[in-house]
Amino acid sequence: MEIQLHDKVFTPFISQDVIAGEVKRLATALKKDLKDEVPLFIGILNGSFLFAADFIRNYKGDCEVSFVKFSSYEGTASTGEVKQLLGINEDLTGRTVVILEDIVDTGNTLEEIYQVFEDKGVKALKIVTLFYKPSVFKKDLKIDYIGFEIPNTFIVGYGLDYDGYGRNIPSIYQLKLPNQMKNIVLFGPPGAGKGTQAKLLKDKFNLVHISTGDVFRFNIKNDTALGRLAKTFMDKGDLVSDEVTIKMLKAEVAKYPDAKGFIFDGFPRTEDQAYALDLFLAEKGMTINAMIALEADEDTLVSRILERGKTSGRVDDQDESKIRNRFNEYETKTAPLNSYYANQGKYIGVNGIGDIAEITERLSAEIEKL
Ligand code: IMP
Ligand code: MG
Repeated sequence: MEIQLHDKVFTPFISQDVIAGEVKRLATALKKDLKDEVPLFIGILNGSFLFAADFIRNYKGDCEVSFVKFSSYEGTASTGEVKQLLGINEDLTGRTVVILEDIVDTGNTLEEIYQVFEDKGVKALKIVTLFYKPSVFKKDLKIDYIGFEIPNTFIVGYGLDYDGYGRNIPSIYQLKLPNQMKNIVLFGPPGAGKGTQAKLLKDKFNLVHISTGDVFRFNIKNDTALGRLAKTFMDKGDLVSDEVTIKMLKAEVAKYPDAKGFIFDGFPRTEDQAYALDLFLAEKGMTINAMIALEADEDTLVSRILERGKTSGRVDDQDESKIRNRFNEYETKTAPLNSYYANQGKYIGVNGIGDIAEITERLSAEIEKL
């Protein structure tokens, strides 16, 4: 999962799918604003070559393309000095110029860009950047379209390099920090003891356990604005929308700025939600490290639940066809999620058959490896 470039170690940060979605969103937004204007795209080399290529492919309209080259970085800290290396030959008079930048950090390069295009008689100058670090940006300059707002972390991949390496990596990695968080999505079929395990793991690894069900109930009980919103869905018998759920989750994560990590339980349930979760974690410099799924065959679990039903009195634990139904639903819903995380190399299946302590051991071994 980790990679090494020169002397430094990097960990996965933003997946290919999430990048692709964001690039498409940016290109669509720009086209909508430019209407029938024919832009001249100028990619800033070297870093933006992949972003520019993908962006242009997603731009549904006539356009022209060119590149310029600046250089300002040595190692992982800005040298503060920007040199223009390769100029523009096109006549820009009256043109709508759209700059495609991979990343805006201190803004030194951006300032140079504004200076270079100042006296070229352009009709409009728009700036698009895929990544932006608001906490280090020191300039009073406009950025028209921003993909990911990321914290002050050093990233590589998708065109971005660390001393020349890493540009060919299709996803984004971030420099490994001394104590990285462990953020886990925990999954398990009905009856697998997911709730029990989440509680044990939370204490053992000092993680924050976020159960979406609990978050909903808390917000509704305390009559928060989000809770009232969620209730309007639930009263109609609908599932609470992803947008509302994500908002609650954001508020919940924000409550624990010093957390060593989170166990997400009950969320995400769909690929869209997994994508939204990745997007919002990226804004905080966080990432899901693993999706851990308890694996257990249906028959064993069904008999376990039926056994539990005899003593617990829970009606939904006493009807075999209803239990099988819950299983079916679980399988159908989680299969696409498993592949979403498997694609990112984050899927970990753990044998969920055994006694509680045994399963906790198996889960712990995986968490320790993260
Ligand atoms: P500036 O500080 O905004 O002028 O950014 C200068 C250049 O530094 C960018 O165009 C990138 O080429 C490079 N850069 C800034 N932050 C990163 C990073 O996190 N990873 C890789 N390159 C970066
Ligand atoms: Mg650059």
